[in-house]
Amino acid sequence: MTGSKDRKSPKSRIAYDVNKIREDFPIFREPLNGRSLIYLDNAATTQKPQAIIDAITAFYSNNCASVHRGIHFLSQRATESFENSREKVRCFINAASLKEIVFVRGTTEGINLVAQAYGRAHVGPGDEILISVMEHHSNIVPWQLLCDEKRAHLRVVQINPSGEFVFEQYANLLGPKTRLVAVTYVSNSLGTINPVREIIKLAHRQGVPVLIDGAQAVPHMPIDVQELDCDFFVFSGHKMYGPNGIGVLYGKEHLLDAMPPYQGGGDMISSVSIEKTLYRELPHKFEAGTPDIAGAIGLGAAINYIENIGADTISKYEQELLSYGTSALETIDNLRIIGKAKEKAGVISFIIEGVHPHDIGTILDSEGIAIRAGHQCAQPVMDFYGISATARASLGLYNTREDIEALLRGLRKIKEVFH
Ligand SMILES: Cc1ncc(COP(=O)(O)O)c(C=O)c1O
Repeated sequence: MTGSKDRKSPKSRIAYDVNKIREDFPIFREPLNGRSLIYLDNAATTQKPQAIIDAITAFYSNNCASVHRGIHFLSQRATESFENSREKVRCFINAASLKEIVFVRGTTEGINLVAQAYGRAHVGPGDEILISVMEHHSNIVPWQLLCDEKRAHLRVVQINPSGEFVFEQYANLLGPKTRLVAVTYVSNSLGTINPVREIIKLAHRQGVPVLIDGAQAVPHMPIDVQELDCDFFVFSGHKMYGPNGIGVLYGKEHLLDAMPPYQGGGDMISSVSIEKTLYRELPHKFEAGTPDIAGAIGLGAAINYIENIGADTISKYEQELLSYGTSALETIDNLRIIGKAKEKAGVISFIIEGVHPHDIGTILDSEGIAIRAGHQCAQPVMDFYGISATARASLGLYNTREDIEALLRGLRKIKEVFH
C-alpha cells in the first residue's frame, strides 16, 4: 500500500486552546498531593489523555482476546483493532507499506532489534558503526554490545559547545568501513534537533544505511519517513501521550525482508517442525509472542489525539513556549542552559552554580513541579560539558506560560535558599 499523508488536520487551523487540551488529561483535573501539578518531565514520559485511557479500558472490558490466532468473533475483533493501529502508525509516519511497521516494546527494543538482526548479519571485524556523542544510552549500548561481539569499532561524532552535531567531523568519519549510522533526531538531554536529512543524504551517497532514533522527535513535530529517506526509524508510545510498553520500529521493506528474525516464538512462524521452521511475512516475522495488544490500540488512540490537534500546530505552540521558557530561565543569575543549539525542541537542560541538580529537583518537587535531575541517560554529554548532571524541564503539548512562571518562582526560591 502506498501512503499519502494529509499533514494538516482540519483542527490544526483552529487557534490552540491549551486550557481545553488540559481538560483532556485527568491528571490535571484534580490537585495532586494538595496542589495542581506542574509537569515538566515530558521527555521522560508524557501524561495520558482520557481518550487513550478509554481506548485501553474498552479493549480489556469488551474486546479482550489474542490476535491473529483465534477464529472466534472476539479474536477477530481484537485483531482488527490491533491491525487498524498499525495502519494508523503507517499513516502517521507516512511509511510506504504496513510491512514496514513492526510493533516493539519501545525505542530501546527497536534499536536492539536492528543491532542484533541487521547488525549481526552486516557487521564484521574492523567495521565501524557511527553514532553521535549526544545519543541516549539506548542508542549507544546496543552498538557497543554488537561491536564487542564482532570486533567492530564505534565511531563517535562530537558536538560543539552549543550542543550541535559537528557535521564536518561526521563527513570525515563516514568511510568505507562504516556499516551503519545511528543518530537521534532530537537530543533528550540538550533538545538539539539534528540535521537528519543531510546526515542521511551523505550516508546514502556512500551506500550506508541510517537509523534515526525518533523518541524525542515524534511528540514534537510531524514525521515523514519517506521524505526523510531514513532506513530505520524508532520511537516509543509513552513519550507521545500513549501507553508504556509499546513502540514502533519502521524499516524499509527490502532491509527488513533480508534480516533474520530477532526473537523466536509463536505468531512469527508460518510452520514449525523439529527440522525446520518457516517464518511469517513482514512485519510478523519480528513480532514473536503475544503482542501488547492494548498498547498498540492505545498507541492508535494517541495518534488520533495528536492528529486531531495537528502535529504542525503542536510544534508551533511548543516552539513559542520553548523560547518563552529559555528567555525566562536566562533571567536567573548563575543559571547556565546546557544545550543552546539554533534548532531545538522541547527541552531546557540547565545547571545553577553551587546547587546540585538533585537539590533543584527535590525543592521544585516540594513546590509541585516535576522536572528531571540527573545524567539524563546521556552520560557522554555530561562528560563533554564536564558536569555530572543537569536539571531538565521538558515540554509537552499541555504546558503553559503559567507552568514556566511557576518554574521560575521555584528557581528563585532555590537561589534564596542556597545563596
Ligand atoms: C532520545 C531517546 N532515545 C531513546 C530513549 C529510550 O526510550 P524507551 O525507554 O522508551 O525505550 C529515550 C528515552 O528517554 C530517548 O529520549
